[in-house]
Amino acid sequence: MNVIGIEGTAHTFSVGIFNGREILSLSSKAFRPEKGGIHPREAADHHASVSGEIIREAMEKSGLNAEDIELVAFSQGPGLGPCLRVAATVARTISIYRNIPIVGVNHCIAHMEIGKLLTGARDPVMLYASGGNTQVIALAGGRYRVFGETMDIGIGNMLDKFARESGIPFPGGPEIEKLALRGEKYLPLPYSVRGMDVSFSGLLTAALHLRKRERAEDIAYSIQETAFAMLTEVTERAMAHLEKDEVLLGGGVACNKRLREMVKTMAEERGAGFHAPDCKYCVDNGAMIALLGHRMYEAGCRMKIEDTVVRQRFRTDEVDVIWD
Ligand code: ATP
Ligand code: FE2
Repeated sequence: MNVIGIEGTAHTFSVGIFNGREILSLSSKAFRPEKGGIHPREAADHHASVSGEIIREAMEKSGLNAEDIELVAFSQGPGLGPCLRVAATVARTISIYRNIPIVGVNHCIAHMEIGKLLTGARDPVMLYASGGNTQVIALAGGRYRVFGETMDIGIGNMLDKFARESGIPFPGGPEIEKLALRGEKYLPLPYSVRGMDVSFSGLLTAALHLRKRERAEDIAYSIQETAFAMLTEVTERAMAHLEKDEVLLGGGVACNKRLREMVKTMAEERGAGFHAPDCKYCVDNGAMIALLGHRMYEAGCRMKIEDTVVRQRFRTDEVDVIWD
């Protein structure tokens, strides 16, 4: 079954085509504000204006014709309301125009499912570290449950905010990674872990203060060492608690080589498997939406247009995992 997946929860509009076994194509475009953070309305306008071009590009790359598409899947939440509504509208239009079924999926679970497909992980604890989300997720009792999460801002937002205040354009994470490679000195920063939860706002404030007297490279290095150690610690605690012997990374921050290295070392020391998909499938992408839509449809999930209203606060543990 050929599925088109439409992603639009935040700054990226992306379309992926999945044929039930493999990903045929992926096309994405990210909204980059000229200055400042993401304004939801502006990101939504961006998505609306690029949607036609991205769909065409994904279709061309897939080698399929419009008539070959049998199901449309879209990211129903969680995310920014205006952005979600654009993705949902695009998906509904395709569904109605082509008279094919539509399935709305949970964005966080889509990160998990694509990671499993691409890496062969079977029952991992997933560290989902992106801009807006920072969660430790695993399957328990038929649902993906959040065992730990950030109590304030997502790790990527923390990196992006630090970068923005320092004159580095969005997205800041990759630039901080480059700066950190030239760091020579560790500067102590607030390490905030409570059980399996973390928080980053104290770390951000402290790091911003350091800019008056310390080198940017050393601050970037110290932010990464501190924040990633916190993430690694809570992921390990979840693995021990749940007795799971695989870890999977997902979300844009999972592109970071230092984070990968730290989590991999932790996994190896526990004798556990380490899995991380290619960066283009860690960031928000339409392929993961198509894949999860396919899983859900095959397992019997059906939605009417009335069921496709967007869900800004759609929680990971609200979905029965009927396809696993
Ligand atoms: P979500 O809606 O899931 O919260 P998102 O909108 O933040 O996702 P993603 O594409 O998953 O989108 O992630 C983007 C984030 O990843 C940004 O905060 C960016 O700075 C960060 N990021 C990307 N590459 C790296 C990297 N190499 N190191 C650290 N952070 C990175
Ligand atoms: Fe995401």
